[in-house]
Parts: sequence; structure tokens; C-alpha cells
Amino acid sequence: MDDLKAKYLGRIADAADESALEAIRLAAIGKKGEVALKMRELGKMTPEERQIAGPAMNALKAEITSALAARKAALHDAALDERLRGEWLDVTLPARDRRQGTIHPVSQVTEEVTAIFAEMGFSVAEGPRIDTDWYNFDALNIPAHHPARAEMDTFYMHRDADDDRPPNVLRTHTSPVQIRSMEKTGAPTRIICPGGVYRADYDQTHTPMFHQVEGLAIDRDISMANLKWVLEEFFAAFFEVDGIKTRFRASHFPFTEPSAEVDIQCSWVDGQLRIGEGDDWMEVLGSGMVHPSVLRAGGIDPDEWQGFAFGMGIDRIAMLKYGIPDLRAFFDSDLRWLRHYGFASLDVPTLHGGLSR
Ligand code: PHE
Repeated sequence: MDDLKAKYLGRIADAADESALEAIRLAAIGKKGEVALKMRELGKMTPEERQIAGPAMNALKAEITSALAARKAALHDAALDERLRGEWLDVTLPARDRRQGTIHPVSQVTEEVTAIFAEMGFSVAEGPRIDTDWYNFDALNIPAHHPARAEMDTFYMHRDADDDRPPNVLRTHTSPVQIRSMEKTGAPTRIICPGGVYRADYDQTHTPMFHQVEGLAIDRDISMANLKWVLEEFFAAFFEVDGIKTRFRASHFPFTEPSAEVDIQCSWVDGQLRIGEGDDWMEVLGSGMVHPSVLRAGGIDPDEWQGFAFGMGIDRIAMLKYGIPDLRAFFDSDLRWLRHYGFASLDVPTLHGGLSR
């Protein structure tokens, strides 16, 4: 019995894994194991011998059983330690500072503009980038042969030679969405429409595709005063400068009467533009009271309703707010530029959370 004990406790101590342990268990205390076979010998013993051998054998079996359990636990702990060592992680390492993707300034500013106007009760409308010349021009009081058509550097879509309908256009502004949204919701209405527009033009401040946001508010007694308040409210929130000054200059658009171009207060210090201070002016948008013919084209009775509209360059105000000098770089898809001017992708601009952090 002492030999059996020494043999199995030694093997248990040397077992390398759980399957080796199981083999030892079967060989020792399994049904046909050595200890079990020894126990059968009890039957041939005298009662006196049995009195001594019986408890001794039970003790041996118990000892082997508990040695097996202890070794099993030890192997388990060792495996866990091994795994913990392999999966070790230094939580004191600094976080990776390079963000994997960023939000483009145009998307960022579109979100900012939307958040500000949403607060003033404007909802977002959208329209197609390829539009008919009726929506882009005629309905906006720009009939065929009107000089404004030539000024817009329009891109025309292809028409087959035997198709005498006027060609569709890449919309030259977001104003056609005024008409589409009047048709859809009638009056009263309050919408903004951000989106891409196209003109054949290319230099530091012009690209053939750029972005505008249109605003339209129609009600029974909307006036220029409402327009001015809304825009000043917008500029203060967008540029994060309270009481920013605006200047309304009389202008002309076929679709508004009267019309005004709007400048915001700025200054140039050491060649750097500062918005909201000083006594220079920077033009940022066109606006006016919606022309009666435009209301009529949108199915709204101009004797009952009136409203204001404005159109502002999104890329332009992004350049002003974030100090981006060249518009062309917006659309070059240069990763270094995108990383430099891009915004963290999980920061959604809201008025309460801060617009531009
Ligand atoms: N659509 C005009 C443009 O692109 C801007 C504008 C919109 C002016 C609405 C007045 C009213 O230049």
C-alpha cells in the first residue's frame, strides 16, 4: 500500500495536464484501477486483517482523490496565470492621439447651421442636384434669355438632338428648393435647405461644386425685420460672438424684392481675418422678400402670404469660421488636410453642448 501511495502521488505531482490526470485517476481508483483491485482482496482476509487493511485502503483512496483534485486546481491556476500573462495590458499607456476618421468641415458646418436654425423653428428640406430649368430659373422669376442665366455659369445636362425640351441643369443654387417645398407644404412654412450646387468657376474662392444653405420663411406678416433678426441671431450663434454687427446692402435678385446682400463685421489684423470685431465688412449672403411671382410659381397666393428668403455659402462661412484659406482644398481629399481641419466624429454640434468643440 505504501508503494501504491508513493507511485500514484508521484505521478499526480508530475501530471502535465488534465487529461494525464484523468488517466492516472482511472489507473488508480477507477473501477478496474489498482486500488480497486486491492480492495477486492479484502474479501479473502480474516476479520482482524480486514479491520486494519479496510480503513487503510479507504484512506489511500481518499488521499489519492484529494491529491488529484489539488493537482487539477493547481493546473487550472497555472493555465489562468499563463493566459493573464499573455493578455497583459498596460492601462497606463496614453490613448492613441490620431483619430481614425474625421468629419469634413462642410459636414460640420452644415450640422452647426442646422442646429441653430432648428432652434428657431426651421426644418430641413432637400431637393435634387440635377433639376429642370423651370425649377432652377423660370419659377424663380428668371425667364429664358434673362441675363441672370448667363451670369450663373450653368452646367447643362445632355439632350438628344431630336429632344426639344430645355436641358436639365446642375442646380446653380439651392433656391429651386424654395419652389419644391412651397409646392409640398404650402404656407405658412419655415425651412432651410443645405446642399451642393454647381457653377463653372475655379479659383481660390470658387470651385465648380460648392455648398449653399437656403432659408425660406413664409407667413401672413413676415417682414425684412424678421429676416434681420433671424440672420443676426444666426451669426451670433454660429460665430460665437454676441452682438455681431451686420450690414444690409441694397442689391438685386430676380426672385426677391426688395433684395439685400448681407455683410458681417470683421477686421484684418496682421493679414488675419477676425469675425465680429473691427470696422471692415465681409459679404456672406444674398437675401430679400420673396417675389410675388415666385410665391405664385410655388402655388402660394401673394395677396395672402409673404416671406423672406436667403442663400448663404456653407463653404464660405466654414472658411471664415475655421480660418481655412483656400476653398479648392475642401475637395482635394488630401488626408493631411482632412486630419488637420476635420472634426472628431462623435462630437455632434448642438447649441447646448457647444457648436465647434
Ligand atoms: N440664390 C442666390 C445665389 O445663389 C442667393 C439668394 C437666395 C438670394 C435667396 C436671395 C434669396 O446667389
